[in-house]
Amino acid sequence: MRTTMVAGNWKMHNTIQESVALATAIKKETAHAACEVVLAPPFTALYSVGAAIKGSNVSLAAQNIFYEDKGAYTGEIAPSMLKDAGCTYVIIGHSERRKYFHERDEDVNLKVKKVLATGLKPIVCVGETEEEREKGVTEFVVGIQVKKALHGIESLDNIVIAYEPVWAIGTGKVATPIEAEEVHRFIRGVLGDTHGSSNKNVRILYGGSVTPDNIEELIDMEDIDGALVGGASLKAETFTGIIAKVAEKR
Ligand code: PGA
Repeated sequence: MRTTMVAGNWKMHNTIQESVALATAIKKETAHAACEVVLAPPFTALYSVGAAIKGSNVSLAAQNIFYEDKGAYTGEIAPSMLKDAGCTYVIIGHSERRKYFHERDEDVNLKVKKVLATGLKPIVCVGETEEEREKGVTEFVVGIQVKKALHGIESLDNIVIAYEPVWAIGTGKVATPIEAEEVHRFIRGVLGDTHGSSNKNVRILYGGSVTPDNIEELIDMEDIDGALVGGASLKAETFTGIIAKVAEKR
């Protein structure tokens, strides 16, 4: 049985004060939620949000990481620093990082390995562009992303995958439950090919324009174990609305 998860990716939004206020409101509303709740504020607010949610069932995530331990890497953040700030999870390979910062599957793989070695848990993002979907190569593209991200990784314990079709992120165009489930099932199959039956324990989140109105149908699907939420995670009301519906899944 996989515990469902709802993760909020705040991207480049919120000051420290705004972040703490939002985290505090979410913590209050989700004190007894029967699903895991994760917040990914910007780096500047990690520590303060971590302090605000301490002792609750809300966990802290970073939105990115660098794969070296320390050194002359101006502007980068090491895994041990994220652990120190209170993180449990790290989002890796988000399509915005792939698009604007030219992150490749090889970088994603190095980051996943380092995150695991540090005792943190990666939320690995994969997904096809609109053009790739139209060309009918969604499974080909997503299959390569999953295999390369997890290359050389022995155990799937502690790995979370987020399927986020690029055309659905921030566009209001959500994948239909059937479209999403097809890819989730495909990803679980790929994990089965590479790692055997432990694929059944891996949580696969859907991301891309998730709202309280569309989550219900998505979470009904067998292989959808939760959501990675962008825009709708910036307001306590909409984010907790999504959590309430995901928590109902049995
Ligand atoms: P969105 O973003 O919910 O605003 O589409 C999702 C994401 O980028 O993780």
